[in-house]
Amino acid sequence: MTGGRLRWGLVGTGRINRRILPALAASPRHEIVAVASRDAARAEAYARDWKIPRAHAPYEALLDAPDIDAVYISLPNSLHAHWTLAALAAGKHVLCEKPIALDPDDVDRIATVAAAAGRHVAEGYMYRHEPQTGAVQALVAQGAIGELRGIAGAFTYPRTRAHDVRLDPALGGGSLWDVGCYPAGFAQFVAGAPPVEVMGWALTGPTGVDEMFSGLLRYGSGLIAHLDCGFRAVSRTWMEVTGSDGVLVVPSPFKPGPREELGLRRHDGHQVIVVEGSRELFVRQVDDFAAVVFDGAAPVVPLADSRAIVATLAALHASARANRPVLVPPA
Ligand SMILES: NC(=O)c1ccc[n+]([C@@H]2O[C@H](COP(=O)([O-])OP(=O)(O)OC[C@H]3O[C@@H](n4cnc5c(N)ncnc54)[C@H](OP(=O)(O)O)[C@@H]3O)[C@@H](O)[C@H]2O)c1
Repeated sequence: MTGGRLRWGLVGTGRINRRILPALAASPRHEIVAVASRDAARAEAYARDWKIPRAHAPYEALLDAPDIDAVYISLPNSLHAHWTLAALAAGKHVLCEKPIALDPDDVDRIATVAAAAGRHVAEGYMYRHEPQTGAVQALVAQGAIGELRGIAGAFTYPRTRAHDVRLDPALGGGSLWDVGCYPAGFAQFVAGAPPVEVMGWALTGPTGVDEMFSGLLRYGSGLIAHLDCGFRAVSRTWMEVTGSDGVLVVPSPFKPGPREELGLRRHDGHQVIVVEGSRELFVRQVDDFAAVVFDGAAPVVPLADSRAIVATLAALHASARANRPVLVPPA
């Protein structure tokens, strides 16, 4: 870290990088130093196209570079835990794309190694850094809808890209890991705890991954959440939080725009609550990351939250396979 700036390396040339690169460039606490690919020519071309000073291949070469403080991991899902642990072993801070792991035990391993190394690891749930998410939680906590009674949410979109890593079971494909993690994580944040038991149903596609998924989540308080996600439906995202006295509707929970309107319907009428968000998404995520590293701020997405989301999704998959409800093992 030089002059209060985090020097970043990108592990992989994934499409999502195009959202992180402008965010890192927009903020004075970050400097983009290098990109790594499995393939040297691809790394060189990517560095040239995105004006990144240096290219490495393979990924290990970037992890070995002493002038890189933090890495952004945007690899297929099954590789997240491995490369997060490898980056920690090389002394780097890690921002890893969701889901950070496919098994809660791997999140425990990451947390143990990160604590021992004194390095920060965060999972890339950008929406958690946006003011709207905090506003929803605050409204519920302040009793705007009375007693919390139910949560529902969805994230679906039509998958059109051929040869997508999301269709490969060996790479952690499937809609639940890809986008089901969003309503599951949002519900966990609003409920203030992970579920204790889940039931899931999957519609499996020709490659063997779930292309549509529906789940019911039961919390210790008796609260029930339901979610659905998938690759074979129209693009849609929403969350709805129901209480004894009202219902709060969040039309764009996961990629909020600069001006969002929450709908609050109660016995006494309907109210629109305006929430100002970021003009450039992902900037708050990387700035909150820097605040943990430089200022000792509390992480916005602690690894304990990540672990609970991974445990919930793994239990939903286990339930769908077994066709029965499955308890979510506590941390
Ligand atoms: N937070 C968000 O809003 C958001 C949005 C989209 C995606 N994501 C997450 O970001 C991650 C990447 O998604 P993406 O859409 O960017 O994926 P992508 O375009 O398919 O890129 C994945 C990258 O991983 C590398 N890779 C390593 N092993 C691979 C393998 N066996 N097969 C294919 N690629 C391999 C490749 O880079 P090299 O070959 O150059 O090494 C490739 O460019 C996923 O975990 C996804 O969940 C997050």
